[in-house]
Amino acid sequence: MQRRDFLKVVGVGAAMVVVQPSMVGQKLYASDGGMFKAYDKVQLMDADGNPILASNLVKEKNYVFNYPHVATPCFLLALPEAANKDVKLKSEDGEEYIWSGAVGKENNIVAFSAICSHQLTHVNPADSFISYVTKKEKTMAYTEGGVIVCGSHLSAFDPTNGAKALSGPAAEPLASIVIEHRDDDTLWAVAVLGPDKFHSYFKAYKPEFKKYFGGKRKAKKFVTVAAQTVPLTEYSKEIIKY
Ligand code: FES
Repeated sequence: MQRRDFLKVVGVGAAMVVVQPSMVGQKLYASDGGMFKAYDKVQLMDADGNPILASNLVKEKNYVFNYPHVATPCFLLALPEAANKDVKLKSEDGEEYIWSGAVGKENNIVAFSAICSHQLTHVNPADSFISYVTKKEKTMAYTEGGVIVCGSHLSAFDPTNGAKALSGPAAEPLASIVIEHRDDDTLWAVAVLGPDKFHSYFKAYKPEFKKYFGGKRKAKKFVTVAAQTVPLTEYSKEIIKY
């Protein structure tokens, strides 16, 4: 499937409102280009092919799915409390965008790219140096838990505020995955918002793509129909937290 669109948007919960350049207002993200990219709608399913239901997610547990490419990992999280809404964020090169917030009955379900915005550390089948650290856990990267931590150089990201960088060398948020929560409680990935790093990522990890996905071309394919969503403990053999 092809990437479908590059448009300015205002995200409102699960719904995305597309705005034309002439309608640019206080809620739009700043300029033309790649801050919002819509892809095919893909349903989040468990390893047995059953739909992931929002109400069944365990709070503060790291879940992983690949979207929009076969080899681009993302976190799915049910936060312990509601996320903030309409958070203004900025990419490293100054491009602004609005993260509309979480979905679900409790406004606490979020998804972000599991590729660090600093130097591309990411979740893979062998290990994970980046993950959500629960409120009760301690981390060397920040004063408190409840954050996504990249252990490579100790950057912390705030999942209640669109994965904004809180500490460490990361100069921009993790890209967010726009999730749709439907009336039947199912969850669907529909777009990517923010600095996604995919271009650099696909340039950097050729041997890894060969090992796990049969080559770079296969790794770059778009996920269609369904994305298998599993706990991080099932996705990665080793989880390293700092
Ligand atoms: S790669 Fe994540 S903090 Fe450096």
